[in-house]
Amino acid sequence: MAQAPTLVAELEGLVGECAARLDQALTLEDLESLRVEYLGRKGRLAGLMAQLPGLSAEDRREAGQAANTVKNNLTSLYDERLAGLNKAARAAALADFDPTEPGLVPFAGSLHPVTLVTAEICQAFTELGFSVVTGPEIETDYYNFEALNMPPEHPARDMQDTLYISDAVVLRTHTSPLQIRTMLSRKPPVAIVAPGKVYRRDSDLTHTPMFHQIEGLLVDEGVSMADLRGTLTAFVRRIFGPSTNVRFRPSFFPFTEPSAEVDISCVICGGKGEHDGATCRVCKGTGFVEILGCGMVDPNVFAAVDYDAERYTGFAFGMGVERVAMLKYGIGDLRMFFENDIRFLAQF
Ligand code: PHE
Repeated sequence: MAQAPTLVAELEGLVGECAARLDQALTLEDLESLRVEYLGRKGRLAGLMAQLPGLSAEDRREAGQAANTVKNNLTSLYDERLAGLNKAARAAALADFDPTEPGLVPFAGSLHPVTLVTAEICQAFTELGFSVVTGPEIETDYYNFEALNMPPEHPARDMQDTLYISDAVVLRTHTSPLQIRTMLSRKPPVAIVAPGKVYRRDSDLTHTPMFHQIEGLLVDEGVSMADLRGTLTAFVRRIFGPSTNVRFRPSFFPFTEPSAEVDISCVICGGKGEHDGATCRVCKGTGFVEILGCGMVDPNVFAAVDYDAERYTGFAFGMGVERVAMLKYGIGDLRMFFENDIRFLAQF
């Protein structure tokens, strides 16, 4: 039969022994393995306590009390050492901390160049008294084509390969339907710009199936081609700088008559046609790059919106935002706008 005095002595011996071992524990891992060794379910203390049932009732009481005291002592030794190690770890971390080091600058997002250029173009026109309107990207054939003087089978419909949703519903191929929507909901005078996404069945180095346009429309009594030229020249110089030259070339759009395309002096070679001793690759040596299409609103369009074409005249224009951004920032590849490479996007 086990003897109480021996067991008590062994139990009490644990305290001194464990205290010495704890003093040498330098890491939280050391500490944990000591906890398991002494206080664990299969540890030293549990091993000694397993002998209790073999004692006589009186001895068991004595040894049981001793075991409780030892357990409390071991636990507080362990807690004390744990607190000590944690405190040392914090002190060490603080010793490495240099409050004079510059902080880490958090990553701040930036606006996409298409967003920036859209805002800049709209701003240039709102300063001239235009207001900004938007409309649906899913359009009916009527607004996208028919009311813009492109009846069914009109060959100009092919100029913009269309993505059809159904026979009568399309993804708008240009922002020009906003001309119609605006004139149907307002009486002249109107002066609006309309930014937004447009869609065409087109995908290669210089075309993406979705891109951005900004439409402009001004209608009032006595508006002439000279107003169109003056407005667009002021706009171009505002965006590309005061020394930019502007050229109007006759062109064709079904919804304007007469129509023109506007070229600006090449932003890369300054209009000289060559750059770094070679033919300028942006204007291909011509000294000019195309920037937008425009013209005087066709009387057939006024008829579609019930504006009196005898009384009112107006001009309209439309431009590609990516194109303006490419010219303005010298970006050579349209795909950059859609690849979402943060190194590219964060530059603007
Ligand atoms: N909608 C034409 C296009 O997408 C541009 C344009 C707008 C031309 C308004 C003239 C007037 O090419």
